[in-house]
Amino acid sequence: MTSSSTDSKQTCTLTNNATGESYELPVLDGSIGPKVIDVRKLYAETDFFTYDPGFTSTGSCESRITYIDGDEGILLYRGYPINELANNSDYTEVCYLLLYGELPSAEQKKKFAHDITYHTMLNEQINTFYRGFRRDSHPMAIMCGVVGALSAFYHDSLDINDPYHRMVASYRMIAKIPTIAAQAYKYSIGQPFVYPRNDLNYAENFLHMMFSTPAEDYEISPVLAKAMDRILILHADHEQNASTSTVRLAGSSGANPFACIAAGIASLWGPAHGGANEAVLTMLQQIGDKDNIDEFIKKAKDKDDPFRLMGFGHRVYKNFDPRSRVMQQSCHEVLEEMGVKDEPLLELAMELERIALEDEYFVDRKLYPNVDFYSGIIFRAMGIPTSMFTVLFAVARTVGWIAQWNEMIEDPSQKIGRPRQLYLGAIQRPYVETDKR
Ligand code: SDX
Repeated sequence: MTSSSTDSKQTCTLTNNATGESYELPVLDGSIGPKVIDVRKLYAETDFFTYDPGFTSTGSCESRITYIDGDEGILLYRGYPINELANNSDYTEVCYLLLYGELPSAEQKKKFAHDITYHTMLNEQINTFYRGFRRDSHPMAIMCGVVGALSAFYHDSLDINDPYHRMVASYRMIAKIPTIAAQAYKYSIGQPFVYPRNDLNYAENFLHMMFSTPAEDYEISPVLAKAMDRILILHADHEQNASTSTVRLAGSSGANPFACIAAGIASLWGPAHGGANEAVLTMLQQIGDKDNIDEFIKKAKDKDDPFRLMGFGHRVYKNFDPRSRVMQQSCHEVLEEMGVKDEPLLELAMELERIALEDEYFVDRKLYPNVDFYSGIIFRAMGIPTSMFTVLFAVARTVGWIAQWNEMIEDPSQKIGRPRQLYLGAIQRPYVETDKR
C-alpha cells in the first residue's frame, strides 16, 4: 500500500499586514508526523520567498523510507523500529527493505544477497587509481575521489531514466563501497588489497577485506561480524540529513548516481555530521581523564569558545537517539570479545554522558548523545583507526543514499532543486574605471 500525501482540505491563511491581502495555503497530511504547509505557489502568488537557513522547518520532499520522531526518540525504516531491526535482522535484509519497501521473503533475500555479492569486485583498473594518492591521505578524501570516478568505469549503468540501469548502478554502489573503503585502509597502511570473497556475508566480507593478509589465514570473529552488521544497520538511513539532502540535490540535476554518492560522502565528512564519530574520539583523548570533564563541559557551554561536545545534540532528536542506546550495548559486547577489560575511553564517555545529562545547559537544550557518541569506541576496539570511522559511516549510509536517490528520480513531482535567497548585497551601480576608484 503506497500512501500519498493527502490534501487535507485544511488550509493556513497568510495575511500581509502591509496590504491587508490574505492567501490560503494548502496543508498536506503525511501518514504520521507533522503536517506541511504547501508553499510551492507562494512566490508566484505573493512575490514572497520563505526563509529557512539550515531548513529547520522545511520539508524538501515526500518520502516513504525513514521516519524520525525526534521528541519520542523513534526511528523507523519503512515502518520497522530501528531496535527491532538491529536485534532481529541483518544488513543485507535492511538494504532490501530500504530499497524495495518490504522485508524480503527467504527466496528474495537469497537472490538479493547473491546479486550484491557478485558485484563486490572492482574493475581492476580502479585499483591503480589509489596509486595517485599519498599514503597518508585521509581515507575520506580517497573515498570522494574513487567513488566519484566510478562513472568513468561503469558506462553501462548511467541512464538514470532506465529503471534497469538504476538498479544495476544501485547494486554496484552498495556492493562495491565496502571494497573501496577497505582498499583505502589497506593503501594507507601499505598492505596489499584483499579481494572480496563470495562465501562471506556483507559484514564478514568487509572485515575480511580490512584485516586479512596474504601471509596467513584470518579468522572472522562472529561477535565482531555481528557487531559490524548491527552498526551498518544503525547507520543505514536517516531521513533528509545533510548528506542525503546533498545526494538528492545533486541527483535532481540528472547527475549520475556515482557522482551523487561522491557528493554525499563529501557532505558526510564534516565534523557536524558523519565526521563527528572521529571528532568524538579525538575529544575523549583530549579530555583524557574524568577530572577534566568539568573544564570541557564549561568550554562547550561558552559561546565564545568554538568547542562543542562532539557526539551530543541533534537537529531532530530532542530525546535519546535510539541508535546510541543500541551502540552502547554493542560497545560492551565488542570490548568483551576483544578481551578489553576496562576501556578508559568508554568509562570516560559514560561519565561525560552522565554529567552532561545532569547539566541544565544540556537539559534545557535537549542535547543527548547521538549515534556518533559511542560508535568510535567500538570501532577503536575493533582495531579500526580513527581516520576510518567516517568511512564506515559512509559504507553503511550508501544504501540509504541510493534508496533516497531512487525515490527522488521516481517522484513524478521532482524537479531540479534550486533554492532562492534573501539578498543583502549591493544594489545596482555603474562600473568605475580604475583611475576613478
Ligand atoms: C549526525 O541530521 C542527521 O540525521 C544526522 C545524523 C544521521 O544519521 O545522518 O544523525 C548523523 O550527523 C549526528 C550529529 C553528529 N554531530 C555532532 O555530534 C556534532 C556536535 N553536535 C552539534 O554540532 C549539533 O548538535 C548538531 C550539528 C548535531 C545539530 O545542530 P543544530 O540542530 O543546528 O542545533 P544548534 O547548533 O542550533 O544548537 C542549538 C543549541 C545552541 O545553543 P544556543 O545558541 O541555543 O544557546 O544547542 C547548542 C548550540 O550552541 N549545542 C551544543 C551542541 N549542540 C548544540 N552545545 C554544545 N555542544 C553540542 N554538541
